[in-house]
Amino acid sequence: MVSEPSLQKMNIYLVGFMGTGKSSVGRLLAKEKSRLESRSQWNFVDLDELIELKEQRRIVDIFAKDGEAYFRKLEKKILNQVSTQKKFVVACGGGIVLDKGNVSLMKKTGIMICLNATPEEILKRVSSSNGRPLLNVDKPKKRIELLLKMRAPYYMQADEVIETTGLSVKQVAKKISKILAGKKYIFSKARGLAAKV
Ligand code: S3P
Repeated sequence: MVSEPSLQKMNIYLVGFMGTGKSSVGRLLAKEKSRLESRSQWNFVDLDELIELKEQRRIVDIFAKDGEAYFRKLEKKILNQVSTQKKFVVACGGGIVLDKGNVSLMKKTGIMICLNATPEEILKRVSSSNGRPLLNVDKPKKRIELLLKMRAPYYMQADEVIETTGLSVKQVAKKISKILAGKKYIFSKARGLAAKV
């Protein structure tokens, strides 16, 4: 079945709260999809890593020196650039969904998949690093709960929501792969678009 060009998808955007595993899952998912579709290569990109590379400084330093609003501008710009690519699994920063334009761009150029986890699990996963400025506070668990509550409606805009608590990276990647195959999303080679058939 040939899908409507206007319904075609190009990329997979992984969104969701900090510590839900977007980067590790994304890396594995790109590998898994490349293996399954032997004739087509999937690439992986992490938007935060790209921002740090372009700015030549860490995200904590961007927040500290220029503030969150400046970071959000960088994030939007880099998403715009990446969205012109095709067959990319894109790990997005946890706050990318707060911008309406970002959400519509992701939906227009790909599938938006949200990874979810409980506050306890998130705390466990993020506590080894101080690289997340929004969680460098006295009571990170309270901050996680508050932000999760505030952001829930934004995350719910995703095409698919995947619960990751208690699952390994491999299990989550497999779960996504299965969902994508089951729903028969078609990924366009042409620039522009694609879909669920
Ligand atoms: C943020 C999440 C971070 C990073 C920045 C802001 C957020 O990315 O973009 O610290 O607002 O949730 P991760 O979700 O990859 O940790």
